[in-house]
This record gives sequence, C-alpha cells and structure tokens, in this order.
Amino acid sequence: PVVAVILAGGTGSRLYPASRSDRPKQFLALGDPDDDRSLLARTTDRAGFADATLVATRPEFADEVPEHAPDAEIVVEPAGKDTGPAIVYATHRACDAVGGDEEPVVVVLPADHHVPDADAFEATMERGARVAAGTDRLVAFGVEPTRSATGYGYIEPGERRETARDSGDAAGDGADGADGYRDLAAFHEKPGADTAGEYVAAGYYWNAGIFAWTPEALFEQARDTPLGPLVDALDGPDPDPEAGFDAVDAVSIDYAVMERADRAAVVPAAFAWDDLGAWDALERVLDADGDGNVVDAGAEALAVDAAGNVVAGDDTHVSLVGVDGLCVVAYDDRVLVVPKDDAQRVRDAVDRLKDSG
Ligand code: GDD
Ligand code: MG
Repeated sequence: PVVAVILAGGTGSRLYPASRSDRPKQFLALGDPDDDRSLLARTTDRAGFADATLVATRPEFADEVPEHAPDAEIVVEPAGKDTGPAIVYATHRACDAVGGDEEPVVVVLPADHHVPDADAFEATMERGARVAAGTDRLVAFGVEPTRSATGYGYIEPGERRETARDSGDAAGDGADGADGYRDLAAFHEKPGADTAGEYVAAGYYWNAGIFAWTPEALFEQARDTPLGPLVDALDGPDPDPEAGFDAVDAVSIDYAVMERADRAAVVPAAFAWDDLGAWDALERVLDADGDGNVVDAGAEALAVDAAGNVVAGDDTHVSLVGVDGLCVVAYDDRVLVVPKDDAQRVRDAVDRLKDSG
C-alpha cells in the first residue's frame, strides 16, 4: 500500500505578509485564478493515487487542517522542528495507518507546490513508489532546472538503472515493464548562486522536495544522522515521540538525511512543477499582461510604464508607475516591496520583525 504524507507544518515566512503565525502558506489560496482552494486542499487532491493520506502538522495548526483536508488523517508532531523530525514521525505513523503486515511505501508531499498536470504527476508518483518498494532506496524526484535557483536542493545523478515492474496483476495483462531511475550520487541543499550555476551547467537536477521510501529504508538511513535519537525513540516496542522530539534539534530532511544518504535514487519528475514558496514564483505560474506584470487573485493593479512586476494582496488595488521587477504585496495593514531577485530574502525581514516583537 502507498501512504501519502502531506507536510503542512511550515510557516511560510518568505510569503509574508500573506503568511502570518496563524495563517501559514499551506492555508493560502495563491497562484491559481481558477481555484480558490488553499494550497493544502489542492495537495490533498493530488494525493489521490495513495491508499491513505496523512497530513503532518505542528500543534499550532492542527485545528485548522480538517477544513482543508476533511478526508485525511492528521498527525500532530509534538513540536514544530522542521521537516526532518516531522517526516520521520509521520513515516512511523504511516505503518499504523495501513495496519496489516505489509510494509507501506510512504510518499512525502510538500503543501506548497504548483502542479497543473495531475495525471502526469500521478504517473511519476506511482513509478517512484515502485522504485522505492523494489530497491529499498530513498527516492527523490528530479526536476530539470531552468535557472540557478538558490532556494532548492540539487541532485547529482549517477548510474542509470532500472527495476523490474511487477504490475501486481495476476492475469498478467497489466503494464509489465521496467521503471528507470538513476543513482543519487550527491545531494546539495540550497547552494549559493555561483555553485547553483555550476550545478545547472553540470546537469544536476533540482530536488522537487517529494520523496518515496519504505519506513525501514528511511529509518536505516536516518539512524546515523542528527535524527538518530528520534528514530531510536520511535522504532522499538515502546515508541515515545515526545522524548524523541526533545532529543533532536530542528533540521530539514534535506540537510539531515538526503545529504548523507548512501542508498538513494532519483526519478525524473515528468510533470510541470513549481514551488510557491516565495513571491517571485507567481511570475512563473500566472498569465502576464502585455508588459509582463502578473497579479494574483484578490488584488488588482494599474500599471503605467511598469514591467515585470508581481502584485498580490487581499482586496487591494496597487498602482505601479515607472517601476520594474518588483514584488508588491499588501495583506491586512502590511505592505511588502522587494525586488523579484531578492524574494528569498523576505525571510530575513520576518526574522527581524520577530526579534523586534
Ligand atoms: N509537518 C511539518 N512540520 N511540515 C513542515 C515543517 C514542520 O515543522 N516545516 C516545514 N514544513 C512543510 C512546509 O509547510 C512545506 O509544505 C514543506 O514542509 C517544505 O518546506 P519548505 O520550507 O517549503 O521547504 P523548501 O521549499 O525551502 O525546500 C524543500 O523543498 C524544495 C522544493 O520545493 C527542500 O526539500 C529543497 O531541497 C527542495 O528543492
Ligand atoms: Mg517550499
């Protein structure tokens, strides 16, 4: 069986001021004028290929999740400690979700992605799940890079391999064949701009942030990492999640496990994909006017001699005069203005706001 684990516990600080401590990005409805549902609700839809869906979140957000994912089971982490602890815990809980003796394949889905082609997405997820089940590797999904992005992980692909596909169809008339994948030779999370450029030139993939694995494979690969104490606290006769979370620091799965993994694979992501984690992403997913300005649903804009800008807001009218390449975002009584190329740095502004109370 396949269990989808949707990650819905981040705060989305790069999407300030739309995101706030009580309104994280997964509950926002960004990036699609024809879909007013939240990013989390859209992600739940995409998880239809799985036999069960878990939504992993931190305690602060748990009450609101059912509004966005009414049919999913909710897994509440003892504390928000980034994706590393969240994923290890949810993968452990996935075993209970399916019961029985069969080990599930867990497919981890972030809740901040833009994926317009659901069928192509599903086909790739099914292939990744088969590779994970057939190889006991940690499976990452590789996106062909289109620029030297600094907000992503980069995957160096190695040897090409294939795993025999068992259609699971007793009659034998199903789609037998082989699933191709490549060794994951190295993983580098969020490099600087120069290094990112070298990786793109060298033919590396972007890490889509989606993973597939069996619980056994993840626990084995995570045991010798900073997440080891959590694995030990969960993977025994008497699991103690609280003690396990107390014993580890906040860390993402990318830094903690993927950068160290020695049994991992990469399956090419055969679908259009974007991460809606920062304001500049809207430029890539929304239709632009004749001057290359994009406006998210909820805002309106007047552009006079202004080009290549991103506008977003809640019932806000924005006038742009003689400015290029900016993100202008207004939510509640807060306004953010940032050059598109610096959109990843909005996190720094949020850190300062927190420091100053
Ligand atoms: N349950 C839970 N608990 N979820 C969390 C937590 C947590 O403590 N922290 C973050 N998340 C969720 C976010 O809500 C989001 O859906 C997902 O985990 C990924 O977090 P991001 O903060 O958006 O990660 P990223 O985009 O910077 O980087 C990751 O994704 C990139 C592609 O989108 C990495 O995997 C990169 O390597 C990758 O390229
Ligand atoms: Mg993201």
